Amino acid sequence: MTHTVPSHDPASPPLVVRRLLVDLATPLPRHWNGGDAFRTALFNALSMSFPVGEQFFIDSVRAGVAVLPAAEQARFQDEVRGFIGQEATHRHVHARFNAHLQQQGLVNHWAPRIERRLRRLKTFDVRAWVAVTAATEHFTAILAEHLLRTPEQLAGTEPRLQALWFWHASEEAEHRSTAFDLYRALGGTERWRLRLFYVVTWHFCTDLLRQTAHNLWRDGTWKQPRTWVQGWRFVFGRQGLVPCLWAPWHDYRRADFHPAQRANPEALQWLAQHTDAWAPVQQAAG
Ligand SMILES: [Fe+2]
Ligand SMILES: [Fe+2]
Repeated sequence: MTHTVPSHDPASPPLVVRRLLVDLATPLPRHWNGGDAFRTALFNALSMSFPVGEQFFIDSVRAGVAVLPAAEQARFQDEVRGFIGQEATHRHVHARFNAHLQQQGLVNHWAPRIERRLRRLKTFDVRAWVAVTAATEHFTAILAEHLLRTPEQLAGTEPRLQALWFWHASEEAEHRSTAFDLYRALGGTERWRLRLFYVVTWHFCTDLLRQTAHNLWRDGTWKQPRTWVQGWRFVFGRQGLVPCLWAPWHDYRRADFHPAQRANPEALQWLAQHTDAWAPVQQAAG
C-alpha cells in the first residue's frame, strides 16, 4: 500500500515547546471544574494517566527514531525534539496537578495499570510501541479538538486551570501527526496499526470510565443522582463525548487517514490569543 501524505509537511511550522505561566501551587477546589462533580472527576482521571502515558510516548518516539536510517532520522529530528519537549512539559505540569488530587484523597489506579501493560508491550517490536503511541495520540487529539470547540466543558473554572487544559489541548492538536508519521516511516503495517488501535480504544475507554467512577466514589458524590445526570449529559448529550467523538474515532480506521486531515484552527487561535499564559522554551540543538 502506498501513502501519499508526506511524513512531515515541510510547510508546517516547527513545534514550539512552551512553558506554562500559571499558578500550580495553589490547591485546587474539590470540584474545580465549574462545581460539576462528574466533569471534575473525568478531567482528574485523564490527568492521572498523563505522567506515565506521556513518558511512554516520549520513550517510544525516541526508540522509533533511533532505528530509522540516518537520512530519515535527520528528517524527523526537529519534529521529534519538539514532540518530546511538549510531552515532557505536559507530564511535569500534570504531575503537579495530580499532587493536589492526592492531597484531596483521590487514588490513581490508572497509572499502575498502564505501567503493567507497558512492561508487556516493551517485549514487542518498537513499531508496536509507536503504533500504540499513534493510536493514543489520536485519542488525545480528538479529545483536545472537542475541548477547544466546546470550551463550555470548562465553564466556571478558574482561568489558571482553563489555561492549563487549553494549553495542553492546543499542543496535542499541534503534534497530532508526529507518532503517526513515525509509524509510517518505520514501515509499520496497516494490520497492526488497526489491531493496536482497537486495543488502545478498549483500554482507554474502560480505564477512563473506571478511574472517573473511582474518583467519584472517593469524592463521596457517587451516590448523588445529580452526578449521574451531569455524567449522562457530558457523555451522551448533544455536545457529549460519544456523539462528538464517534466520527473522528472512526476516521482512524480509514486506509487513507492522516491526522493532518483534521484542521485545528481553534488550537492555533487559543495559543495566539493567550501568549500571557505561556513562554517559549529555548531548546538545545542536536
Ligand atoms: Fe500531552
Ligand atoms: Fe501528545
